[in-house]
Amino acid sequence: MFQRQNQAPADFDSPLMSERIVPSRDAIRSWFPALSNEFAYLENAGGSQVPGCVANAIRDYMLTDYVQLGAGYAQSQRATQTVADAHAFAEQIVGAGTAGKVVLGNSTTALIQIIAGSYADIWTPGDEVVVAATNHEANAGAWAKLAQMGVVVRIWDVDPDTFQCSLESLRALLNDRTRIVAFPHVSNLLGEVVDVSAITELAHAHGAKVFVDGVAYAPHRTIDVEKWGVDWYVFSWYKVYGPHMAALFGRHEAFAELTGPNHFFIPRESIPYKFELGSISHEGCAGLLSLRDYFAFLAGEPWKGRETVIRAFEGIAELELPLQVRFLQFLRQKSHVRIIGLGAETEQSVGTISFVHADLTPSQIVAEVDQHNIGIRYGNMYAVRLCSSLGIELEEGVVRVSLVHYNTPEEIDRLISVLDKVL
Ligand SMILES: Cc1ncc(COP(=O)(O)O)c(C=O)c1O
Repeated sequence: MFQRQNQAPADFDSPLMSERIVPSRDAIRSWFPALSNEFAYLENAGGSQVPGCVANAIRDYMLTDYVQLGAGYAQSQRATQTVADAHAFAEQIVGAGTAGKVVLGNSTTALIQIIAGSYADIWTPGDEVVVAATNHEANAGAWAKLAQMGVVVRIWDVDPDTFQCSLESLRALLNDRTRIVAFPHVSNLLGEVVDVSAITELAHAHGAKVFVDGVAYAPHRTIDVEKWGVDWYVFSWYKVYGPHMAALFGRHEAFAELTGPNHFFIPRESIPYKFELGSISHEGCAGLLSLRDYFAFLAGEPWKGRETVIRAFEGIAELELPLQVRFLQFLRQKSHVRIIGLGAETEQSVGTISFVHADLTPSQIVAEVDQHNIGIRYGNMYAVRLCSSLGIELEEGVVRVSLVHYNTPEEIDRLISVLDKVL
């Protein structure tokens, strides 16, 4: 009855597949119905496209198992299993191992608010938080708001020349009242991958925990919360080829300090449920769960859990890097262009590339590009504190081009040929 598209190819067991071979871009794109036309999606940091299997799984779930969880009949048992499996899958994606659990929710913004609100219940005036200026507002405002109850909010400034928040400046902000250091793994404007382990180690040495916004990192590289030692790590599925949902990893010790906001009669040990307010999107769980098929395809092997995730993201990084290098090399030739960020032509940056022009406004540049079936955008991308620190006008912001592994060299060349005339 349901027409399925883009299911896992049948030839997983072919001998070629046992070596690590990154699938062709054509094969990858055939999983994404939205990519079958001429439009170049280069605004992926805003949200990625979904493989057909995600949309199909949501539809199938809604038309078969769309019932409440926890009852005895078959549909309810299947629905319960889907939601449990989605949590287990999310734990494999972040590499939780035995270190902690994953809460699912509507959005990264909502999940951060839930955790900040839970800390507000136990913190006292004079406790401190450090908030990186490079944050998207989601991981800044929720903490800054706690100033109302007497929490001291310290801003971890960005160096306008290096675009980095340095370890030295963090060290100067930490003291024995610091409770949380909130920072992005990758800024959604700057694209640089920061050293999460080093920051975490420094914060822990002062008795503070870290809350890492992994939203701009997660579509591009393997998350490894256990290895990095982070306390909290959050990302949004809709930027990682899935539906509008988010996932938050928390270490057991971090959860243990807090009482989640769910109803009083739900035991505080009931993690993640104590932190999932009301019903999460069960159909979204079905959708994100089907990403196992897509990651297995990328990895060239049947789904094996965490090891498939790692292989899939190795392939993703390999596909993205040449595109990012090509575009950065073009931009560097333009004397009136200033790249906002390190713009590393290595895996130290992801393909999220922002720039401004000496004479043209970001809106003028994007208006030209809009006419050529290419999607990019301009603005502050809700990184308002970062834009203010860098002296970037908030309304116009920057021009941002953001690519992922399904983009093609041809798309980048099309964008370059349009921008070449404009810039
Ligand atoms: C770096 C970063 N953090 C947080 C968010 C907010 O995510 P959500 O829409 O899931 O709340 C975004 C959204 O663009 C983002 O880019």
